[in-house]
Amino acid sequence: MRLTNFTRAFGDNVIISDLDLEIGKGEFVVLLGRSGSGKTTLLRTLAGLDDATGQSVRIPGSRAVVFQDARLLPWKKVWRNVALGLRGLTGLVRDKAERALHEVGLGHRLDAWPLTLSGGEAQRVALARALVREPELLLLDEPFSALDALTRLKMHELTLALWQAHRPAVLMVTHDVDEAIALADRVLVLDQGRIVTQERITAPRGERSDVARGLRQRLLSALGSGAEHASVIPFRQSHEAFA
Ligand SMILES: Nc1ncnc2c1ncn2[C@@H]1O[C@H](COP(=O)(O)OP(=O)(O)O)[C@@H](O)[C@H]1O
Ligand SMILES: [Mg+2]
Repeated sequence: MRLTNFTRAFGDNVIISDLDLEIGKGEFVVLLGRSGSGKTTLLRTLAGLDDATGQSVRIPGSRAVVFQDARLLPWKKVWRNVALGLRGLTGLVRDKAERALHEVGLGHRLDAWPLTLSGGEAQRVALARALVREPELLLLDEPFSALDALTRLKMHELTLALWQAHRPAVLMVTHDVDEAIALADRVLVLDQGRIVTQERITAPRGERSDVARGLRQRLLSALGSGAEHASVIPFRQSHEAFA
């Protein structure tokens, strides 16, 4: 996907200005930015949810979005939530949904009601619902920020496994620097509608502790927190600082 010279304003309020962004096939890009920096606005454009008439926006036809809350329909069973919008014979559609739910470790909850799921399970369903569309571009808007730390780590593993199996291009929004470092091929920092920092991470995932320290400082500093304190801010606090 590619945006060139992209600008988005609400009335006189310019949220994103002159932004160039390109994401390669199968690339995993994480977008960091403070609250209100325009992350969701950008993501909505890439999802095709916003009118981008007259702008240079190239996005693949098959896209899927996962938001911070799973947005499941409570009156539909889990598998029907995953199958939502899929066309075809009920049996085949159910098979597809079932396969996706197996992939996210919820093969045993096909007939469960959404309200009986934990937060982590609900996000797994949301991932399955995205996957079943076989998107070329997977958009994730702070998908794990409402989950506890342990569940979040499990979701990171799952996200990477799904990405490796299906290889969509990913744009994931987060305000969690450690999440960005754990997952990304490339991290972007958005500030006042511009990309102010860009870091490519070549170290294999799982072997990033050596590069993480310097990287974390640079990213935190780009987020405007003052790098000199970055290394001593415990995870929870740094997490909240950008919430
Ligand atoms: N539909 C809208 N109408 C007017 N202003 C909006 C709209 N959507 C977002 N904004 C404004 O755009 C700015 C960026 O919002 P958003 O993209 O949601 O930020 P982020 O996701 O980085 O927290 C905010 O100041 C917000 O108030
Ligand atoms: Mg947002």
